[in-house]
Amino acid sequence: MTSTHTFSARIIHWGFILLYAYGIFKQLDDISELENSELLIFEVIFASIFLIIVIMRYSYMRRFETFLGARESIPSAHKYLAKTIHISMYLCLIILPLSGLLIAALFTQGITDGAVQDLVIEIHGFSADLSYVLIAIHIGAALYSRIKSEGVWTSMVPIWKENKSVTNKKIIKIKNLENKFFEKVEDFFSTPK
Ligand code: HEM
Ligand code: HEM
Repeated sequence: MTSTHTFSARIIHWGFILLYAYGIFKQLDDISELENSELLIFEVIFASIFLIIVIMRYSYMRRFETFLGARESIPSAHKYLAKTIHISMYLCLIILPLSGLLIAALFTQGITDGAVQDLVIEIHGFSADLSYVLIAIHIGAALYSRIKSEGVWTSMVPIWKENKSVTNKKIIKIKNLENKFFEKVEDFFSTPK
């Protein structure tokens, strides 16, 4: 019996993409834009809502297994890898609004430039850039899993559903090689040195 993510989990996952895309789309070009006090208030409200949603999402989603929909057992090293990417995405999506709020706090204290404000802006930009990289890896991994027809894709994505296990010999070979690789990694970490 394969499992699928709950309706709420899917709504949160897909609805959040709109919020994230809007946040990235409305990004500021320069700190001087914050002289517009209406924009400053809007940015602070948006970042606070964004932060609360990310934290609520994490507290709801952490109860579910990684690779919930998998039809076959997944090596635990592979699960750790996926979990690491998921947690890193959450960290990025928390640091992004937090650093934005810090920029605003410093700005309202009259700190518009200098080493501290520059560092916070650097962290803000870095977390945005890292979020693009992690999301690209995540989408690549989801597509790769779909090609292997593992069931993970269908547990979250409403289109191009998997209805049977993969029969293509090349893909089965890749799957076996991949499983062997993850088993070796597990052995390496579990063998007493
Ligand atoms: C802003 C873009 C995205 C973000 C931030 C994101 C984030 C996440 C996170 C953190 C999870 C783990 C479950 C959770 O805590 O919600 C997840 C699960 C998943 N995502 Fe995404 N995702 C994004 C876009 C996509 C896209 C475009 C696809 C498909 C092409 C996709 C496919 C999946 C699948 C299949 C799962 C289930 C994995 C599992 O059950 O272990 N995601 N996503
Ligand atoms: C969730 C909320 C936010 C998102 C998603 C977001 C996103 C972004 C992104 C993607 C950039 C471009 C970074 C780069 O060029 O590498 C940016 C720049 C910037 N953001 Fe945000 N931001 C958010 C909240 C805030 C807040 C609350 C403030 C301050 C009130 C702020 C102030 C700035 C400033 C000043 C820059 C320009 C940095 C520079 O001069 O290079 N952001 N933001």
